[in-house]
Amino acid sequence: MVIVLFGAPGVGKGTIGNLLSKDLKIPLVSTGDILRRNVKEATELGSKAKSFMEKGALVPDEIIIKMMTKEISRLKGGFILDGFPRTFNQVRKLEEAMSDNSYYIVNLKAEDDFLIKRLSDRRICKNCGAIYHLVNIPPKKEGICDRCGGRLYQREDDREDVVKERLALFHTKARPITDYYEKRRILRNVGASLPLQEIVDLIKEKIKDDSHQE
Ligand code: AP5
Repeated sequence: MVIVLFGAPGVGKGTIGNLLSKDLKIPLVSTGDILRRNVKEATELGSKAKSFMEKGALVPDEIIIKMMTKEISRLKGGFILDGFPRTFNQVRKLEEAMSDNSYYIVNLKAEDDFLIKRLSDRRICKNCGAIYHLVNIPPKKEGICDRCGGRLYQREDDREDVVKERLALFHTKARPITDYYEKRRILRNVGASLPLQEIVDLIKEKIKDDSHQE
């Protein structure tokens, strides 16, 4: 089973992806995490992606497709994707890579104003990438990661002006993608403002029940 988590910045793709990955015991592959790791390690990929990420733009398709084709080819069995596909070229590549594998697109939905507010309180561990929220999912000790003791920071692209850019860009790309997957009858809509465990349970229910179409 392959699950693609789709949705605007801040809907919870990373957070829910981590919970689902533990629950279903399948790996999570996050484009944002791979890119941020490469930026931190100053690799060739990281230096190509950095300027796009900082201003909230998409990293060019050729870079992302090469990176993800390599990642997906390494995986055996089920997995979860967070952040791919995000353009129609990426949709085509994923279709090719999936060939006979069944997969579902989980479309996490919330209003922009809600997401702007939510992202202003997000904090990330500099060391392991764990995701926190100052109100909803606070660390036990302020500024310190519960998991590894690393320092928490606010992502550069979580500044309100950059979040607005990212949301606007998402809306220009999203519709043809969700329309396409809706026609393919593999799109499952889920509200992103529900409690986390409810979202995880809903996703599991919707991908289990093949007859449930939206
Ligand atoms: P990426 O990191 O993928 O950014 P994004 O899609 O904008 O998504 P986010 O990571 O901001 O949010 P999320 O949905 O994962 O939310 P989270 O779980 O953290 O990509 C970054 C950049 O890389 C892009 O801008 C682009 O430049 C580049 N890039 C990546 N993929 C690309 C691609 N395919 N093509 C081209 N370029 C690409 O949750 C948000 C907050 O809310 C957290 O604080 C969390 O704790 C909290 N929270 C989440 N859910 C809940 C809930 N249900 N209840 C309470 N709190 C919650």
